[in-house]
Amino acid sequence: MDDWQELRRECLECRGCGLAETRIHVVFGDGCQTAEVLFVGEGPGQSEDEQGVPFVGKAGQLLDDMLEMIGLNRTKVYIGNTVKCRPPRNRDPLNVEMAACRGWLDRQIELLHPKILVCLGRIAAKELIKEDFRITAEHGKWFVRDGMQMMALYHPSALLRDPMKRPETFEDLKGLQAKIRELCPNTKI
Ligand code: URA
Repeated sequence: MDDWQELRRECLECRGCGLAETRIHVVFGDGCQTAEVLFVGEGPGQSEDEQGVPFVGKAGQLLDDMLEMIGLNRTKVYIGNTVKCRPPRNRDPLNVEMAACRGWLDRQIELLHPKILVCLGRIAAKELIKEDFRITAEHGKWFVRDGMQMMALYHPSALLRDPMKRPETFEDLKGLQAKIRELCPNTKI
């Protein structure tokens, strides 16, 4: 069994926090296992919990559109989440849940060793870029962590709630596209 298969198998059995009690599926991740670009969201919602695949609900459709705007799709990137099981009623994941789940994401990052990591929303940015990350002030800005270039976009759900944020996000996406062209020779866009 390869490393990804083994990691997925272990993760699907996880009972590391209380979310295991209420989940339908563990949402491990989706996309290309050799991608140079990793997107990390917050956690599964209802559709994701039902299907076991990240970003397949309304926010997911918008994420697919955002990827397409810069020549990307799910065969060219990998998509994961800070927590792999749905928080009840889509509340924010608790710190204990994120801490319990962090090892799975770290092992995914280790296997992928992406050149670029894109946080989708404040929760992922606080977890992965810096604790005091401010999404309104710092979306689209680049940070270096563990040899990876990292940036955050507004979460697609935030863009559904507030379409006024979309023009800024389009600028951020263009910045991401330029960075991919600079650093990711195998990602043709
Ligand atoms: N929102 C997220 O943050 N992740 C998903 O997988 C779906 C919606």
